Amino acid sequence: MKADFFTVKIKRTVKLNHRTIWVEMNQTLDAQPGQFVMAWLPGVGERPFSIAGSAPLCLLVVDVGPFSQAIHQLKPGDTLWIKGPLGHGFSLLGDAAILAGGGYGAAPLWPLAQLALSQGMNVQVCLGARSKADLLLCDAFEEIGCELTLATEDGSAGETGLVTGVVEKILKSKKIDGLYACGPTGMLTALASLAKTYNFPYQLSWEALMRCGMGLCGSCEVPQTCDPALPPGWLACFDGPVFRYP
Ligand SMILES: Cc1cc2nc3c(=O)[nH]c(=O)nc-3n(C[C@H](O)[C@H](O)[C@H](O)COP(=O)(O)OP(=O)(O)OC[C@H]3O[C@@H](n4cnc5c(N)ncnc54)[C@H](O)[C@@H]3O)c2cc1C
Ligand code: FES
Repeated sequence: MKADFFTVKIKRTVKLNHRTIWVEMNQTLDAQPGQFVMAWLPGVGERPFSIAGSAPLCLLVVDVGPFSQAIHQLKPGDTLWIKGPLGHGFSLLGDAAILAGGGYGAAPLWPLAQLALSQGMNVQVCLGARSKADLLLCDAFEEIGCELTLATEDGSAGETGLVTGVVEKILKSKKIDGLYACGPTGMLTALASLAKTYNFPYQLSWEALMRCGMGLCGSCEVPQTCDPALPPGWLACFDGPVFRYP
């Protein structure tokens, strides 16, 4: 077996939308919201996934290519190889949080929302996707007591446009102690600049291309063009995936 990987069994999978499943394992992991695991399937490869739940360990997997497709084929009782928890997660500040997720970026925000609510915080969640069919975990966030705002590019749910637009409206109208986000690079770059404009702290989870997952290969460097506040040579696997500012 590869070094540091351990085996888990799939307990169940639940279809969340046309190309996304929720995968629940038979094991728990002592992890912070925002940390990730490397998942390995011999003969297929290995990929990083945000920890969407730690007791039991859960992942949210979008079917976009060979590895994620292989995960979608797994059945209860099948084996998956896991390394982790890895990286640095989110750390909650103050009393009011805004959580912004694009696509599968909702995954690490789910345990973060639960933790924030358990600490008595006010939690505003903003989710964005191409269309209503691509939104993830909306009912789940609402059921646990988060205030939910949606944005879709085609206008099929919530406001028409990008999630950054709804985040900006909230920032103008409410006192917020911190912004926590995960999603595509363009979204995070826009949020970093928005947060600086409105002068409040942010924590962004950057999902860069990872190979070694341990700070050796350099493939997951997030450049300062994404956010000028990032230190030069900042590695998502080793220094992140969450970057905290200030
Ligand atoms: C820290 C971190 C956390 C991650 N967390 C998650 C997670 O919680 N859930 C999840 O599904 N994935 C997550 N990913 C992405 C995941 O690691 C893989 O990149 C993804 O599963 C695709 O691998 P693949 O072999 O199936 O497809 P690949 O052949 O690697 O990719 C196929 C094509 O799809 C594009 N692509 C990759 N991922 C996506 C996507 N999600 N949506 C649209 N296009 C995509 C690629 O750029 C490529 O063009 C995370 C990545 C990082 C770095
Ligand atoms: S994946 Fe190799 S340095 Fe981050």
